[in-house]
Amino acid sequence: MKVQQVSLGLCTVAQSFSHYLKLGKRAQSGDSILIGGGATATGVLAIQVAKLVYNLNVIATASPRNHEYLKELGADYVIDYNDADVVNKIKAIGKVKFALDTVSDARTYQKVYDATEGTSEVYLDNLLNLTADSIKTDPKREGTVKFGQTLAYLSLSRRRIFLVRRCTKLLSFLKSTMSGGTTSCLLSLTSLSTPSLE
Ligand SMILES: NC(=O)c1ccc[n+]([C@@H]2O[C@H](COP(=O)([O-])OP(=O)(O)OC[C@H]3O[C@@H](n4cnc5c(N)ncnc54)[C@H](OP(=O)(O)O)[C@@H]3O)[C@@H](O)[C@H]2O)c1
Repeated sequence: MKVQQVSLGLCTVAQSFSHYLKLGKRAQSGDSILIGGGATATGVLAIQVAKLVYNLNVIATASPRNHEYLKELGADYVIDYNDADVVNKIKAIGKVKFALDTVSDARTYQKVYDATEGTSEVYLDNLLNLTADSIKTDPKREGTVKFGQTLAYLSLSRRRIFLVRRCTKLLSFLKSTMSGGTTSCLLSLTSLSTPSLE
């Protein structure tokens, strides 16, 4: 994997988990996260961080050929997104409090939203600027679902990066587990900034 891919992917996951989903503050033992598109470049990183850093119950969607691979990475459950009953199969696993849709079209975001039905407090995020208006929402769920819009590209600007303050847990984990080269690369991200997120 190229360094730039690692940086953008991890930057994306860090921004989503720390800034929008706020897992460090909100996640509790036993909580579940749904990674829609677990086999995407972003999804494979999100699964690993969700399990290794936050110790969440990880549910992912992917084609059957990727199920074993994603379980090796830390997914507790992997559901085929082409299954007509995918939403009910996710709901049958249990309440889903957090979700990141890494595919992020209106159809996949709708399914992610629907799969979190029945959970009293839900935090959703996607990577292509979808909002609540992009999907059909249930008025009865208004106020119980928060919508994020991660754009890792916004991390680039002149001021201090949000990662320094908001991703300390992820960075300390990476420092303790990764080789010097990769860690240096990741720490170099801390010279970036994102004023629009402050
Ligand atoms: N906002 C940001 O900061 C940001 C950052 C990175 C990427 N993105 C965007 O996020 C999107 C994904 O990027 P990526 O590079 O991570 O993707 P990618 O690696 O190109 O994803 C390919 C995988 O997507 C999976 N997939 C396709 N349709 C799916 C569906 N309906 N449900 C679940 N999985 C599905 C397939 O998995 P299977 O092989 O299992 O079928 C396929 O292997 C792109 O549009 C990219 O531009 C945004």
